[in-house]
Amino acid sequence: MSFFTWSEEYVIGVEPSDRQHERLFGIMCELQAAIAEGRSTPDVSSLIACLKDYTITHFTQEENLMLHCQFPLLRQHQTEHAVFVKKIVVFAERCTQGDQAMSLELLSFLRNWLLHHILKIDRAYVPYVVGKQIAQIPQG
Ligand SMILES: [Fe+2]
Repeated sequence: MSFFTWSEEYVIGVEPSDRQHERLFGIMCELQAAIAEGRSTPDVSSLIACLKDYTITHFTQEENLMLHCQFPLLRQHQTEHAVFVKKIVVFAERCTQGDQAMSLELLSFLRNWLLHHILKIDRAYVPYVVGKQIAQIPQG
C-alpha cells in the first residue's frame, strides 16, 4: 500500500479543501510509484513540478478561505505553507541534479508533512469556516 493512500480519517469537512487534499495525495502516490519504478529523472522532476504547482493552487485557495473567515492564525499557517513550497523547490533542484538520496528523503518529508499538516494544522481553521457562507468565499 502506498504511503499516500487517501482515507476518510483525513477529511476535515471543508470543501474544496478536502477535494484538493485528496488530489495532493494522488499526486504524491504517483510520485512514489515513479520513484519505486526507477523512472527517469525528467519523469520524476515533472511530477515534483506538478506537486509544487498544485500545492501552490491549493494553498492560495486555503489562505483566501482563512482570510475570508478571519482565522486568527492565518500568518502562522501561511508561514507553514511558504516553508513547504521552499523545501519542495530544493527537492526539485536536487532531483534535476541527479541526487539519488533525494527520493527517499522527499517521500518521508511529504508523508510527515501531510499527516502533521492535514491532521493538525488544517483542522485548526475548521471551526472558523463551518457555518460561514462558503459559496461566497473566493475559490482562488
Ligand atoms: Fe494548510
